[in-house]
Amino acid sequence: MTARRVTTIAQMREVCAAERAAGRRIGLVPTMGALHEGHLANVRLAAEVADTVIVSVFVNPRQFDRSDDLSGYPRDLAGDEAQLADLGEASPAVVFAPHVTEVYPRDPAVTVTVTGLTDRLCGATRPGHFDGVATVVTKLFNMTAPDVAVFGRKDYQQLQVIRRLVADLDLPVEIVAAPTVREEDGVAMSSRNRRLGPEDREAARVLPRALRAAVEAAREQRAAGRRPSVEVLRRAVTDTLRTASAIQIDYVEVLDPETLAPPDSYGRGEDDETEQEQLLVALAAHVGPVRLIDNVVVGDAQDEARLAPHASE
Ligand code: PAJ
Repeated sequence: MTARRVTTIAQMREVCAAERAAGRRIGLVPTMGALHEGHLANVRLAAEVADTVIVSVFVNPRQFDRSDDLSGYPRDLAGDEAQLADLGEASPAVVFAPHVTEVYPRDPAVTVTVTGLTDRLCGATRPGHFDGVATVVTKLFNMTAPDVAVFGRKDYQQLQVIRRLVADLDLPVEIVAAPTVREEDGVAMSSRNRRLGPEDREAARVLPRALRAAVEAAREQRAAGRRPSVEVLRRAVTDTLRTASAIQIDYVEVLDPETLAPPDSYGRGEDDETEQEQLLVALAAHVGPVRLIDNVVVGDAQDEARLAPHASE
């Protein structure tokens, strides 16, 4: 089924009002386009929890902290629409692809800022990024008024920021978290992977391998009757990343998966053990021209299992 393309806010509101009047539940899947299987899985998930699915495709300039990243960001609306049409039963009803001047007709005086959760990880290394995300997601929610919206765990901090945004501003939308979809070799799918040359693509395989090293380290500690130590997990990741010379580490952090703050034992040296059942292990690294992120929640069996080596390794 080919989705209807909508480009104006007025038209989007009309469509949503009609769907809601007909008693249909609206699901929104916000994206920046250059769709891959990860996005498509999120659209399928939305089709399971909503009657009318809207996929927004908007490369949001306000969340880019580097102009070369924005100008180099892949754009392919026709290709995106073709992939969505191929979803058959799960095809969305609408592709909402507004022009940048439709979303930002004037210099905005209002910015949505989520504090605390944005202190670390990408919030620390990409100033203004989450202000841009929180602001555009608030606007997209106001344009479509969805009952439910799907966000990927691949962008774990973003997911938590959106959850907090919705909770603190009482936005009437349910947030559904989608698991990270990975390539055969374990590399998390990302629109930015398109910009990796063959050698850098090969080097990128060290990212999931490094996360697996953290899972393994935690398992070994548990097998020895201990609880995972933040430092041991962090070292497992950084040591693995350093085996690939083409990789430049941006950050490696082990945090509380809810608060994104250091777990209780953090900073007590190498033998520290944490009481926490689950730990977020998150990394960002430059691979050639591209900055990639990935994460795993250690102690979350399903998330760990998705990292398991594939047949091709
Ligand atoms: P984008 O990077 O296009 O991602 C759109 C959605 O797809 C996000 O919720 C993201 O977490 C999810 N996603 C990306 N890669 C995934 C993967 N491998 N598996 C599962 N889900 C994946 O994230 C953004 O756009 C923007 O910040 C946005 C929320 C649209 C605001 O501009």
